[in-house]
Amino acid sequence: MRGVMAKTGRVLALLALVALGAMARPVAAEVPKPKLPPAKGEKCVEPTEVMRRKHMDYLLHQRDDTLRRGIRGGKYSLRECLECHVTAQAGQPLPTYGSPDHFCSACHQYAAVQIDCFSCHRDRPEQPAAGQARAPASGDGLTGPAIPVRTLKVLGPAEEKR
Ligand code: HEC
Ligand code: HEC
Ligand code: HEC
Repeated sequence: MRGVMAKTGRVLALLALVALGAMARPVAAEVPKPKLPPAKGEKCVEPTEVMRRKHMDYLLHQRDDTLRRGIRGGKYSLRECLECHVTAQAGQPLPTYGSPDHFCSACHQYAAVQIDCFSCHRDRPEQPAAGQARAPASGDGLTGPAIPVRTLKVLGPAEEKR
């Protein structure tokens, strides 16, 4: 008799576990979406919904266009993605790939996606975010809007060559 009761107990415990497992599933589906840092600019290069699903195809096509066909400055430039999407929180340095504050890795960590792109490519925009590039307000005449670093680079070497 005792044996039967112990067995029934084990079966009940097992049933309870199965029931718990079934309950856990809808809960897991409600895990919050990753919190993405805000983007600069009015809108993305394609509608947000499309970008969510297809950004990888655009990027890989753009890469092929550049590497195989020498086409540069395309619509889906990786550099441009970072210009709009990798931004710093007030007083913080720009986040690097791997940080939950970095647009691309916030989502990729959540979705367990691995990419190697940033072993070669810069994971941040080349210029400091607007507002960060300003010289300190010290009355030295340099407090106006900062000249983008890119503009300076374009001007600099060209002047030297002449
Ligand atoms: C081994 C180094 C390396 C890796 C890894 C790499 N790239 Fe590149 N990528 C390059 C080089 C070099 C260029 C050419 C840059 C140029 O000539 O303008 C390039 C160009 C590009 C371009 C076109 C230029 C631009 O800024 O838009 C895109 C887009 C791009 N890569 C995306 C990617 C993506 C996405 C990944 C990851 C899946 C990746 N790359 C991984 C080296 C790499
Ligand atoms: C001119 C600025 C700009 C550029 C360039 C840009 N984006 Fe966007 N992107 C945005 C904005 C704005 C949104 C909308 C964000 C929102 O709805 O909260 C967005 C949305 C997205 C989303 C969806 C995010 C979400 O909320 O789910 C992805 C993914 C994305 N962009 C990837 C890219 C990639 C990859 C590139 C480069 C090929 C790129 N973006 C270039 C501004 C830009
Ligand atoms: C809204 C979430 C989200 C954001 C933001 C996001 N990704 Fe993705 N990315 C994904 C998901 C999900 C996949 C995997 C899709 C699949 O496997 O079908 C992916 C896949 C990729 C791939 C292809 C990887 C492979 O090996 O197939 C590349 C390249 C990529 N993302 C680049 C980027 C870059 C660069 C950024 C930032 C500019 C970015 N992603 C931002 C969700 C995101």
